[in-house]
Amino acid sequence: MTRKISACIFDMDGVLVHTEMHHFFAWKRLAKTLGFTIDEEFNEKLKGVSRTVCIDLILEHGGIQKTQHEKNKLAEQKNKWFLESVSSINENDVLPGVIDFLQDLRKNSYKMAVGSASKNAPLLLEKMGITSFFDAIIDGNKIQNAKPHPEVFLRAAQELAIDPFECVVFEDAQSGVEAAKTAGMFCVGVGDPVVLFKADVCIQNFVDMNLLKLHQLLDIA
Ligand code: BG6
Ligand code: MG
Repeated sequence: MTRKISACIFDMDGVLVHTEMHHFFAWKRLAKTLGFTIDEEFNEKLKGVSRTVCIDLILEHGGIQKTQHEKNKLAEQKNKWFLESVSSINENDVLPGVIDFLQDLRKNSYKMAVGSASKNAPLLLEKMGITSFFDAIIDGNKIQNAKPHPEVFLRAAQELAIDPFECVVFEDAQSGVEAAKTAGMFCVGVGDPVVLFKADVCIQNFVDMNLLKLHQLLDIA
């Protein structure tokens, strides 16, 4: 069966903007207050998953147990540090090539959505001035199940009124790639192909990305 693309769904952190390092630094700072450290390899597990799942993974990593109330306080503290470090994010922080690609999609009447685990997604999209590109924004406030569950992308496709089979997801996290593939979508990994080996194809960034190139990469007409 010939497959076509009608919509592109973008993860936000690490795809549209380089906020992953801010998340990592805030988690690292939190781990330090708890008496242990986390490294970049462990951080791969935190990418794409919700704040509450991150807290559980971090505490498990440090061999520490906390009550739900304490976990909520820790999550609150991490988010406070995260928001402080992204406070100056603006239009210039949208990753190279992204705006041109979004414009190309808009010019060709493709539907566009954001599918992010982050509850801060609407705020950051606003700060970067790119909210109006998207026909749907599904963030961490709107979903019950964290990636790798496909809910976030299926909700996006539903709001766009596009068959999941005709959607392409752009993802930088293993959990997100898995979510996209479980949703029955194409997935373009943004980053290391070794880490994102389940993606259909990987790109390093959006520089020179356009619709023609996307079709060629996915090997569809
Ligand atoms: C994802 C990030 O997009 O959002 C994760 O990759 C982060 O690192 C998650 O933990 C939740 O974000 P927030 O902003 O709601 O804490
Ligand atoms: Mg991401």
